[in-house]
Amino acid sequence: MSHAEDHEGTRRDFLYYATAGAGAVTAGAAVWPLVHQMNPSADVRALASIRVDVGDVEPGTQLTVKWLGKPVFIRRRTEEEISAARDVELSDLPDQKAENANLSGDADASDENRALDETGEWLVMMGVCTHLGCVPLGDAGDFGGWFCPCHGSHYDTSGRIRKGPAPTNLPVPVAEFVDETTIKLG
Ligand code: FES
Repeated sequence: MSHAEDHEGTRRDFLYYATAGAGAVTAGAAVWPLVHQMNPSADVRALASIRVDVGDVEPGTQLTVKWLGKPVFIRRRTEEEISAARDVELSDLPDQKAENANLSGDADASDENRALDETGEWLVMMGVCTHLGCVPLGDAGDFGGWFCPCHGSHYDTSGRIRKGPAPTNLPVPVAEFVDETTIKLG
C-alpha cells in the first residue's frame, strides 16, 4: 500500500467517526428524566449506556462511535468476512479467549463467541489496540481485519490478534440489539 492510500484510509476512518458523532448516536430517551432526579453521578451512569442506530451501515463497512471516551467499532460483516473468521482453528490463535464481556471469562475465541448475533453479521468491539492503546485501522492487515500501525499488530475479521505485539483480542463490550436497527452499548 502506498503512503497516499494509507493516508486515505486514515481519513476515511476519521470521517466515519465524525459522522457517528453528529447523528448516529442518541442517548436512551428514557434515561434523561432519571438524570434530573439524581445526583451528579447519574450523569456518568447515563453515559455508561448509549444506543446506536445501525440502520444505514452497509455490509462490508463499519461505524465507529465514541463511548466512555473510547472508539467502538461496529462492523457489519460480509459473508466472506464471516466465513474467514469461522474457518480459523482455535489453535492458530495467540489469545484463545473470547474476551467478550457478554460471556463468561472462560468462553473460547470462536467467532460465534465474538459476534453480536447468531449469523455473525454484526461484530462490536472496542477500537483500542490491546498493545499500547492506538486505534487500529479497518480493512487492513494480513488477515483482512484490522491493523494497528503503531507497532504492527494484525487482527482478523473477528478482531482476534493474529500477529504482532498485541497480547489479546480486541475486547467485545456489553452490547445487544434492542430493536432491529439499534444496538445498545453498556
Ligand atoms: S499500540 Fe497497537 S501495536 Fe502497539
